[in-house]
Amino acid sequence: MKPFNVEVNFQTGDLTPGKKIDRYLSGVKNMFFDQAAADAILQREDPLIYQVIYADVPEAKGHLGNCTTIIYPGKVGREFYFTKGHFHEERGTAEIYFCLQGKGKLLLESTDGEWAILDMYPGTASYIPPYWSHRTINVGQEKLIFYCVFPADAGHDYGTIEEIGYPKLVVEENGQIMVVDNPKRRK
Ligand SMILES: [Fe+2]
Repeated sequence: MKPFNVEVNFQTGDLTPGKKIDRYLSGVKNMFFDQAAADAILQREDPLIYQVIYADVPEAKGHLGNCTTIIYPGKVGREFYFTKGHFHEERGTAEIYFCLQGKGKLLLESTDGEWAILDMYPGTASYIPPYWSHRTINVGQEKLIFYCVFPADAGHDYGTIEEIGYPKLVVEENGQIMVVDNPKRRK
């Protein structure tokens, strides 16, 4: 294959040419803590929560997958919009998230059950080590946009997080961004 460019728009998060995946509330509803709040929103509308735009790279050893992610601002109940979160299928693989726009939190948990949270703002390059699952959360008023680079054959395991959740939730309490225990955590 030949070398190639993609263009990343720092303001909109567009990656061109790229393949876009849209995640609407109806598709990620079960991940949120407050199911009644999610249902109430879905009675009225099905908001777009986030989008991922992938560069066209073979999912093969030696290649580097890369994408942009755009998380819209908003909340379900008190909980800020987030990505589903995943482990890599191939657990021993790392990733870098480079924040382009907005204000976010990166919530991580290792296969050993240790958790961590990092701030994301324009210019932060967050290193996600091997064996750590990762979820990003938009805690700002604008879109949270970041660029990702990962081993292209790492694969995505969303199921584990769907099943057990994260040990922490990121919520708004009295206008403050708070990290609180997740009462629904299963493990
Ligand atoms: Fe990842």
